[in-house]
Amino acid sequence: MSVSERTYIMVKPDGVQRGLVGDIISRFERRGFKLIALKFVHASPEHLEKHYADLKGKPFFPGLIKYMASGPVVGMVWQGLDAVKTGRVMLGATNPLASAPGTIRGDFALAVGRNICHGSDSVDNAEKEIQLWFPEGIVQYTNDNEKWIF
Ligand code: PPS
Repeated sequence: MSVSERTYIMVKPDGVQRGLVGDIISRFERRGFKLIALKFVHASPEHLEKHYADLKGKPFFPGLIKYMASGPVVGMVWQGLDAVKTGRVMLGATNPLASAPGTIRGDFALAVGRNICHGSDSVDNAEKEIQLWFPEGIVQYTNDNEKWIF
């Protein structure tokens, strides 16, 4: 637990196509997290296979890669207290069937194979994902979150 904890949040191709990028960014801003990196990218299947390497044996793996490579995604790094766990709560359960209303998936998604967004599931995985998607590094700056929220 740290105020400088970082998480990797990604708007998936369906979220981009449906025009939900602004809403998702706004939710993280209003919650009090600090945006420290953002990228609009049409990822290659090879890159996505690295991101989802832990899932390689799963039956849904080929479909997941095809879906994620079907259009551009928005990759972001958000920083703040408990960013990983709180980020996952804000996303909602992986399967939208179980996602509570008020969460991103609970408000916008119906199917696990089109669930709008990704969020790191641990601090270790967040750091790996940040390195994979932002190998060039993160811009450092100060804002008022430290003063008003923490
Ligand atoms: S598992 O089986 O418990 O490891 O999977 P889970 O943690 O629930 O989900 C891991 C990621 O796989 C995505 N997923 C799917 N995509 C497409 N189709 C199906 N059936 C499916 N099941 C799981 C799920 O959204 C997770 O991706 P991210 O990007 O983390 O949301």
